Amino acid sequence: MINIAIDGPAGAGKSSAAKLAAKELGYIYVDTGALYRAVGVAVLRRGLDTAKKEDVIPVLAEIKIELRFIDGAQRVYLDGEDVSAEIRLPEASMAASNVSAIPAVRAFLFDLQRSIAKNNNCLMDGRDIGTVVLPDAQLKIFLTATPEIRAKRRFLELEQKGTPVDYDALLEEIKQRDYNDSHRAVAPLKPADDAVMLDSGDLTLDEVVKRICCLAAEI
Ligand code: DC
Repeated sequence: MINIAIDGPAGAGKSSAAKLAAKELGYIYVDTGALYRAVGVAVLRRGLDTAKKEDVIPVLAEIKIELRFIDGAQRVYLDGEDVSAEIRLPEASMAASNVSAIPAVRAFLFDLQRSIAKNNNCLMDGRDIGTVVLPDAQLKIFLTATPEIRAKRRFLELEQKGTPVDYDALLEEIKQRDYNDSHRAVAPLKPADDAVMLDSGDLTLDEVVKRICCLAAEI
């Protein structure tokens, strides 16, 4: 199977670009952040603290998380319920970042990610795909952009959706998540030694997709 790993910070454009590139290549697109979000939602639903491992770890024994691919689009199921919309709520972002720092949560989701990659040609995006989950991926890409550019993109996206938010608060949240994701002890966000670095700051979405497809054509 061909496996392509795309890692990078929140808002670098990984999911939009990876989704389109996967379509072009005929691979499935796997958004691993959705798995951490689903764990975060399960903990929030129980009224527990996503930052406390004593709260989070017992929840893992009670839940089942699955990914299903419907017409190539990924849906996330928590105990058989489709939570694909709920995991995108703003509170799910910080919840996901919090639970993702807990080693037991990472171990809980590891086999699921590995088995999808073993059985499918896929483009998998996340934070530790090239470094931990798929160290043997045939292609690893680390997609970045400055926090300001990422906050601006997200700001415009939310404004277009009719749910404007404060830019400064957004920038602060992005910086906080960058810090959390890259300073945790286990599987921190960092490029694999053999990753191709791609800065999406000066590129359009189409250009990023083209670069990914060109790199994939060289595999
Ligand atoms: O990609 P995202 O914003 O949906 O991810 C949500 C959180 O999950 C992110 O803050 C860090 C965590 N995450 C992770 O630790 N490892 C991954 N492979 C994917 C996401």
